Amino acid sequence: MAKTIFITGTSSGLGRLTAIHFAKKGWNVAATMRSPEKETEFTAFSNIKVFKLDVTQVDTIITAVKDAIAAFGKIDVIVNNADIGMYGALELTTDADIDKQFAVNVRGVISVIRTFLPHLRANRAGKIINISSVMVISTALPLGSLYNMSKFALEGLTEGLTFELKPLNIDLHLLEPGGFGSAFGENITFSKSEAVKDYDLITDKVSKVLAAAGNAKPQVGPQPIIDEIYALSTGKNTAFRTVVGKDAKMVVFLRKILPIKTFLNLLGKKFIN
Ligand SMILES: NC(=O)c1ccc[n+]([C@@H]2O[C@H](COP(=O)([O-])OP(=O)(O)OC[C@H]3O[C@@H](n4cnc5c(N)ncnc54)[C@H](OP(=O)(O)O)[C@@H]3O)[C@@H](O)[C@H]2O)c1
Repeated sequence: MAKTIFITGTSSGLGRLTAIHFAKKGWNVAATMRSPEKETEFTAFSNIKVFKLDVTQVDTIITAVKDAIAAFGKIDVIVNNADIGMYGALELTTDADIDKQFAVNVRGVISVIRTFLPHLRANRAGKIINISSVMVISTALPLGSLYNMSKFALEGLTEGLTFELKPLNIDLHLLEPGGFGSAFGENITFSKSEAVKDYDLITDKVSKVLAAAGNAKPQVGPQPIIDEIYALSTGKNTAFRTVVGKDAKMVVFLRKILPIKTFLNLLGKKFIN
């Protein structure tokens, strides 16, 4: 019998390509997104069903999970992929943006997991794959303290949960990709202020680095990440934490061997002087 994967944030980027990859491999796919009325491509796949889900609206999560279980019977893998990146100097960020960063990247994952637990517990089976980032190890991009905070929190949540879910045969995994050339960089907007100019220099430098990265051919596309999601889903990869991408592996290595101050100075040198 075909297995089923449930993915958040499938309107673009990694989530979307992962949905298509699994459908082509014969899996059932519960592809969730905030605006399913805009979806056209997934209708070509009889094994993809689209459900409305906004990770900040618990009622949409409850309905999507109920409807996906009704449609497919059993959900085997859940991928928490949806995210936003709120960048900018913390002082200039609004309270609403701080709350939004946490609401989507952390609270949203908590709500999805909590909604699924009765189903997974009853089955005594299931895999939860949380899409983290190399930013949890490297904090490589300045002005990303809120995004980094959200991914650090996601990692703490995932590690902490292993104790209570392992006896129920529910596996947790963290995937930590480096940059993989999606719309993520283009979608970043920086908080700015007409009154406070002290952060302008670093903001300009970070914007230029991001723009250059956006124009350059990406070192790696999303396929290696999708391959790891597939390997985790099929049990070929059983690792708790998987780092993907040459750039990501390099910073993990440097983070391991260097004292933290040396490591941060090395990463920050093109932005701060
Ligand atoms: N791109 C990279 O270089 C990179 C590197 C490391 C880690 N990652 C991680 O990879 C994952 C996918 O990123 P991506 O690059 O594919 O980004 P992306 O193209 O911007 O996709 C993000 C997805 O999240 C959805 N989303 C945003 N807010 C949501 C909400 N409230 N409820 C439900 N869905 C929501 C977006 O849907 P809408 O269309 O409705 O906004 C979109 O489908 C993220 O967890 C990211 O942190 C990316």
